[in-house]
Amino acid sequence: MTTAAAPGGPKQGMAPISNDRGSAVHEVTSVGATSRYAVIGNPIQQSKSPLIHRMFAQATGQDIDYTAIEGPLGGFAGAVDAFRAAGGLGMNITAPFKLDAFAYATERSERAQLAGAVNAMKFDGDRVLAENFDGVGLVRDVTHNLGCTLKGKRVLLLGAGGAARGALLPFLEQAPAELVIANRSVDKALELAKIGAAKGRVRGCAYTDLVGQTFDVVFNATSASLRAELPPVPAGVFANCALAYELAYGKGLTPFLRLAQNAGVKQLADGVGMLAEQAAEAFVWWRGVRPDTLAVIGKLTVPLV
Ligand code: ATR
Repeated sequence: MTTAAAPGGPKQGMAPISNDRGSAVHEVTSVGATSRYAVIGNPIQQSKSPLIHRMFAQATGQDIDYTAIEGPLGGFAGAVDAFRAAGGLGMNITAPFKLDAFAYATERSERAQLAGAVNAMKFDGDRVLAENFDGVGLVRDVTHNLGCTLKGKRVLLLGAGGAARGALLPFLEQAPAELVIANRSVDKALELAKIGAAKGRVRGCAYTDLVGQTFDVVFNATSASLRAELPPVPAGVFANCALAYELAYGKGLTPFLRLAQNAGVKQLADGVGMLAEQAAEAFVWWRGVRPDTLAVIGKLTVPLV
């Protein structure tokens, strides 16, 4: 965990103490105004964001109140207006409101613009700053937690929907040798590749075009696993593959991960680390303090069995 001075950051009178993993945590000894944050979605009860941000706040000594708001369908702007009027400083956004948040924002980061969707907002008077941390959280999980560099690697991304789009810019920023995007509807893969072309070596293709090709890292960003389906990826892509990563979280050994395992891939991962890391990025952005994600990942991991 690293700390930096920030508005509402660690308060006077906080003394670093040690937790049982030896990393520093902060004990709050002075009381200030509690800062309000929330996640908004519909439905919302499944969201892990309140648990994650409360754990981060406790570990870093940040005095925040983080709640879950079920936004009415068609009533996103009104719900956010009400939260801001009540003093809310920032929000995470989950389905189905990521495009509404994009429209609601007054300023969007480049990655939010490229993703075409927003998963975090920060309020500053009349300004609504918008970000998308899904892709950067995924990259941090892969490079930092799983120890797998993407630089110079052949990377395969399955799917060309919202999840894949969010990963596009952060992947290309890692300078892979080539990023290949495969999708059932090939036109969507080609479209994503066109968007990314200015940022690195990327091409779109059909699943059938993958026959005879191998990749160092393979990501499943399709929604197939949510229905226990297997994207039609040829098993041969895994021949030299070091890591197979399922962006979906908590689904156990999905058909994609099972295929990779049977093909001999040594390292398998699901999206629990991505979930924790995108939350950590938002936390840093809001509070100026980077929380350690290890405890959150440990708490939320569903074994890949
Ligand atoms: P998300 O926001 O989760 O990315 P999405 O934008 O609806 O959801 O995109 C879903 C992605 O999963 C798409 O790339 C979709 O492929 P198509 O564009 O061809 O529909 C992909 N997908 C869903 N089910 C799939 C399956 N059974 N096999 C392969 N791809 C699948």
